[in-house]
Amino acid sequence: MLRLGIIGTGWIADQFVEAAHATKRWQLSAVYSRRMKRAKEFGSKYSEDIVYFDRLSDFFQSDSFDVVYIASPNSLHFEQAKAAIMAGKHAIVEKPITSNPQEMSQLIKVLRRHPQQFLFEAARHYHEENFKAVQQAVQGMEEIQGATLTYMKYSSRYDAFLEGKNPNVFSPDFAGGALQDLGVYMVYDALAWFGVPDSVNYYATKLNNGIDGKGIAIFNYPQFEVTLQFGKTANSYLPGEIYGKKETIVMDNAADLNEVYIVNGEGEKTIISELADNNPMLAEVIDFADVLENPDSLEARDIADEWLAMSVEVNKVMYKLRYYAKIEFPSDYEEE
Ligand SMILES: NC(=O)c1ccc[n+]([C@@H]2O[C@H](COP(=O)([O-])OP(=O)(O)OC[C@H]3O[C@@H](n4cnc5c(N)ncnc54)[C@H](OP(=O)(O)O)[C@@H]3O)[C@@H](O)[C@H]2O)c1
Repeated sequence: MLRLGIIGTGWIADQFVEAAHATKRWQLSAVYSRRMKRAKEFGSKYSEDIVYFDRLSDFFQSDSFDVVYIASPNSLHFEQAKAAIMAGKHAIVEKPITSNPQEMSQLIKVLRRHPQQFLFEAARHYHEENFKAVQQAVQGMEEIQGATLTYMKYSSRYDAFLEGKNPNVFSPDFAGGALQDLGVYMVYDALAWFGVPDSVNYYATKLNNGIDGKGIAIFNYPQFEVTLQFGKTANSYLPGEIYGKKETIVMDNAADLNEVYIVNGEGEKTIISELADNNPMLAEVIDFADVLENPDSLEARDIADEWLAMSVEVNKVMYKLRYYAKIEFPSDYEEE
């Protein structure tokens, strides 16, 4: 059984624990929260056999868990993942794994010094069958002429922002914004389906604190362009499309892939998606368990390396997009 520790007790951590427990390969065994009461409230739903912490240093020193899922605000991921690896834990870090490439390369250095540990970015859709179905369909295209992908959902925290509050997800101090929160899914899409672009542009609609509420990114490839639209201040119902010669791949949503089909030159539609899992984190918890249960398998190491190489590329592109749109975070100026 994989013994799981949790940092960050928001709804996404519940979704992760529920997916993990559904596989019967994981057991929640430690919870950290800034408040002990909250830690217990979170963990007591799952088991009576959980150790609780309200000090991070005690949490990392504890031998009550082997792998930690980090679901804290983005700007905290780097220090927490680094501390986890140095303490001999495997780290699963919510997307985006770090807020800039300096942090990412430091994390990789730490990992190299702790070669027994694994580091994963929890990019849930990347592990799903429907994501792979799109990838395969793209590979089968004779010619690619571009794509338009959309993921835009009005956030309830935008209401709080408009009321003058400072929710983490809209705060530069916590490395928030639409690109970091939702755009990252489509950066994964583009890199996995079309490769690393030659150049990227990002036209951000900024809020009054300089953070992006929504925006349009354009990825330039030698033969075509890919347009990504994402945001947290409006709702979009546009499907995503990938253009071949005469055929088009259509997906209901570029980050929540429920229905994917190909329309051929004659207008005939072939569905290529499977019924999505009820819990969208199921595919990743299974993938992570497959690796963590076989730490000595070279094949498992290769897969983990591939995922991490993808995280590194995504992280670089995310930074280029921010740079283009002049979106800065305090962490960009921290010394090594
Ligand atoms: N994969 C997905 O589908 C998905 C969905 C949503 C979010 N996410 C990712 O999950 C992460 C968390 O997102 P979220 O929206 O849940 O964030 P959040 O609500 O701002 O914070 C998550 C948790 O972190 C702790 N926290 C909050 N503010 C903090 C602070 N100032 N200092 C230290 N700890 C703090 C809190 O736990 P305690 O009070 O217990 O300390 C809180 O419940 C982000 O990286 C986000 O991108 C992923």
